[in-house]
Amino acid sequence: MDYKEIIAKFADKPGGLIESYHALLKEFSYLPEEAIVEAAKVFKMSTAEAYGVATFYSMFSVKSRGKYVIRICESAPCHIAGAAEVVAAMEKELGIKMGESTADGRFTLEFTECVGQCQATPVITVNGKPYLDVNAAKIPAILAECK
Ligand code: FES
Repeated sequence: MDYKEIIAKFADKPGGLIESYHALLKEFSYLPEEAIVEAAKVFKMSTAEAYGVATFYSMFSVKSRGKYVIRICESAPCHIAGAAEVVAAMEKELGIKMGESTADGRFTLEFTECVGQCQATPVITVNGKPYLDVNAAKIPAILAECK
């Protein structure tokens, strides 16, 4: 589905802009600039306002991201449990640093705040799906699941 079709689905709904951004995120992993311009037209606001909403919420990204967005919790309990080792393993496996995307457009690495799974730290999420009790040795298998 292209971005125009996605946005059109929410045109008449209350809160449609945010809903459409969520749907766009699901499809593209980020909010492409042309989609924000289209959303501004559909929801009858200025491009600056539509862009402002896109950049206000941390769950939206306007930067191109990989198909799989892997986020690691950097809050204290995960940090103490060894998140740094997991970060090092992910960076080594993918050959990129945190905040970067792989050249093939498959993976992006990001930090996140606590995702509410502190009972089993460290925690990473892959496109929002949590993986608990992660350690460096588990990283290759988790990445292999991302086809
Ligand atoms: S501190 Fe990492 S999930 Fe809560």
